[in-house]
Amino acid sequence: MSDSVTAFAPASIGNVGVGFDMLGLALSGAGDRVSARRTDSDSVTVAEVRGLDGEIHPYLSTNAKENTASIAAQALWDAHGGEGGIELKVYKGVPLQSGMGSSAASAVAATVAVNALLDSPLALEELLLFALEGEKYASGGMHTDNVAPSLFGGLILSPEVLLPEIIRLPTPKGVSVVLLHPDLQVNTAHARRLLPKSISMKLWLDQQGLLAGFIHACASDDIELIGKTLRDVVIEPHRKGNVVCFEEVVTAAYKAGALGSTLAGSGPSIFALCKDNDARNVASAMEQACRGVGIGCQSWVSAMTAPGARIED
Ligand code: HSE
Repeated sequence: MSDSVTAFAPASIGNVGVGFDMLGLALSGAGDRVSARRTDSDSVTVAEVRGLDGEIHPYLSTNAKENTASIAAQALWDAHGGEGGIELKVYKGVPLQSGMGSSAASAVAATVAVNALLDSPLALEELLLFALEGEKYASGGMHTDNVAPSLFGGLILSPEVLLPEIIRLPTPKGVSVVLLHPDLQVNTAHARRLLPKSISMKLWLDQQGLLAGFIHACASDDIELIGKTLRDVVIEPHRKGNVVCFEEVVTAAYKAGALGSTLAGSGPSIFALCKDNDARNVASAMEQACRGVGIGCQSWVSAMTAPGARIED
């Protein structure tokens, strides 16, 4: 057993439009890395947090009680750790407050790294609830729609009512995901507090139908049905106003051939599903629309089968 390991965990798209708090999709091309090392101390500490530029991160804390990586690592270490403690180094590749599952990626990478240092590492499925401890701290909610896809990869259904069970859903052939991250920030905990506490039976039924139809469409490679069902009639109306480029970007995505497009998690990122061949055009149309309203941005194109967290060394 090595004394030090590094794990990578990918960014992810929470909700995937149709499944608030229960459906999530891993994204390739962006993610966080966490290095973990066993120490003689009796605690879990964070030695440093660095950004993509290699510099010390300007905003994230090394206070172990305030970092999603160490909170998740501590939960796992408390339950299964041996003698001594753990020192973490966190390398952020996912932008903060982006709707790309930034807090989840750190929590998942830390959990996977620390697991590899245990005398008897747990199975991947057993790590979910530990990683979730970090996410709970960050967003104030018990939702796994970022943690689960970041841990397992692909498209995951993980409603709270079924936890710790998760369901790996089949992904449709020939469909890619485009994610556009505008240079804006949305605090997930704040965005959650702004949601209504209850909704009408009509809205609930409509969204249930869309979620069920979307899952069937993915399983049966039904591109047309994906286009009909990728809609959020419950949450999007309350959140799109937080993202000033929302209408322009989504309209551009549809015009370029997207099957559906809505907020990633609580935003500000916006994702679209589209046929593989349309993905580059959709990404560039979304970027142009975003820059057209004066907001800088970055986009990623990913398969819907992006892998989950892994040990790197
Ligand atoms: N399901 C959460 C929300 C995810 O929408 O509040 C945030 O990324």
